[in-house]
Amino acid sequence: MYDRLQLLANVRIKTDKLCFDFLRKFAAQNIHMFKEKIIIAVDGYSSTGKSSFAKAIAARLGYTYIDSGAIYRAITFFAIKNDLFKEGNVDEAALQKRLPTLSVSFSPPSSSAGSKVLADGVDVSREIRSLAVSEVVSPLSALPFVRNFVDGLLQKWGEQKGIVMDGRDIGTVVFPHAELKIFMTATPEVRAQRRYKELLGQGEHPSYEEILNNLQKRDDLDQRRSHAPLRCAPDAIVLDNSQLTPQEQMLWFEQMIAERWG
Ligand code: DC
Repeated sequence: MYDRLQLLANVRIKTDKLCFDFLRKFAAQNIHMFKEKIIIAVDGYSSTGKSSFAKAIAARLGYTYIDSGAIYRAITFFAIKNDLFKEGNVDEAALQKRLPTLSVSFSPPSSSAGSKVLADGVDVSREIRSLAVSEVVSPLSALPFVRNFVDGLLQKWGEQKGIVMDGRDIGTVVFPHAELKIFMTATPEVRAQRRYKELLGQGEHPSYEEILNNLQKRDDLDQRRSHAPLRCAPDAIVLDNSQLTPQEQMLWFEQMIAERWG
């Protein structure tokens, strides 16, 4: 039965709704709810839909979703707001001095749907998604003292297990022993288009080329940095979602869980 399921799944599911519904039901019935809570690391390139996918998994399993990129973004916004950037470069000494005084948290602290991001108690969820923050977040997140600060927060939140955390180095550095690691990728053009729509929805007016350049620049910086670069953990499962709908991704996840843990 399972072989048949896989065979069908490899055919383009989108073209046959009946078949898709059957597969979805079959996989949903067979998804194994882990006996013990585990850590699921979702890493990958910018704008691959990591957070939507991680949230969907968290909701499916009743886990808490944690967006690690939001912490780097909140720190970047803090640095911009406090005039710590001079001609595009952050004043590292000043940031290192001020960072321990910054409190970054989620409200509510545990939610599968994602939470508001608070910096010193103020909701900065919208501001951290602006292009101004996206432009400078990668060089800032390459700084080892910033990474140590963030890793400390993430590892503390992970102690409770039962979490789905997305980022760039979750499966390689933050939780190298995570029980399940997924690495997401998609073509740069598909990713730029997704980000473009997201920013438009937030009332910004970016150009598609600007976004494409920004995400390629960020991918490059994230992969080339010496401290905790973006890379696929050897034990991660790769998910290329260039051609997948969110429903197909969830089916992929449920099948994969049924295959490995069922
Ligand atoms: O996932 P995102 O695009 O919101 O992340 C913003 C930036 O933060 C990204 O350019 C790289 C950095 N980041 C990181 O270095 N390590 C993580 N675990 C998460 C994000």
